[in-house]
Amino acid sequence: MIDLSVELCGVTLRNPFVLASGIWGSCAGTLARAARDGAGAVTAKSCSLEPRAGHPNPTVLAWRGGLINAIGLSNPGAVAQVAILREARKRLVPLGAPLIASVFAESPADFGRVAEVVAQAEPDFIELNISCPNVESEFGRPFALEPRAAAQATAAARRVYSGRLLVKLSPNAPDIVQVARAVVDAGADGLTAVNTLGPGMIIDVHAGCPVLANVVGGISGPALLPIAVRCVYDLARAVNVPIIGTGGVGSGADAMQMIMAGATAVGVGSALYAEGSAVFRRLIDELASLMSAEGYADLSFRGCAHHV
Ligand SMILES: Cc1cc2nc3c(=O)[nH]c(=O)nc-3n(C[C@H](O)[C@H](O)[C@H](O)COP(=O)(O)O)c2cc1C
Repeated sequence: MIDLSVELCGVTLRNPFVLASGIWGSCAGTLARAARDGAGAVTAKSCSLEPRAGHPNPTVLAWRGGLINAIGLSNPGAVAQVAILREARKRLVPLGAPLIASVFAESPADFGRVAEVVAQAEPDFIELNISCPNVESEFGRPFALEPRAAAQATAAARRVYSGRLLVKLSPNAPDIVQVARAVVDAGADGLTAVNTLGPGMIIDVHAGCPVLANVVGGISGPALLPIAVRCVYDLARAVNVPIIGTGGVGSGADAMQMIMAGATAVGVGSALYAEGSAVFRRLIDELASLMSAEGYADLSFRGCAHHV
């Protein structure tokens, strides 16, 4: 019998797979559906203090290496999000799947304000999205690129929220380890690594112009996997908090790489684009079969790639 359960900041997940923020979890129904389809935990779409329309369409394109997106963090605002999160929580509790709320803000101080509002929904975790690469034209460089700004945003949320706090890091940081150390010192209980890479650009050669209305967007899916695995590997060496390894996971073997690099849990986003939340059942089955073939009864091989 294979045991896939993991402990994330004191919360038990029945398996390591976590729905990543933004792809599927915009309402209580889709969050619950991901859990019914097997996700060990689910992350809601990021919300801000005020509602946001996001960028004009087209905002997402599938290309051969994955997705490029510039959704622009469209969301109904923190107050409306509390109602969505409360309803989601009601549906998730019987399914045994913890809820991760995700927030972002324009200034480090506003991370505290939005976390305070969202905390009213009593999610199991709050994740700070300090790393979205496709709103730079509006907000400037993501806070996740600099240890000081990242720590300020984390500290602002930590001051008002005593629950489990995750911080989502960027693969674009010049030194992701320094950023991680800064946010852990500022009170983060865990890390999610990573957000999308870039921004990148896809040009339609027949139209002679970029496909996304925002011109540039974040890269996710298979192209991101080796970078995300390397980030998780570097982080696991440097900090002593759990990591949700996220980026390009589309198979049980991809998830095993993340865990061998040191991830406690494994985020899944772009893989839902083609398969919907049914992807979780496939990933669970593939991971369990691979573990069985390799002689692992549980996930205690975590971090084994460091011991070679
Ligand atoms: C369409 C789309 C929307 C996203 N929205 C969010 C978001 O609202 N908040 C966030 O923290 N990350 C967001 N992300 C990033 C994902 O959560 C994830 O970190 C990234 O896509 C890498 O994982 P993947 O390769 O499995 O998709 C989004 C990604 C995509 C493709």
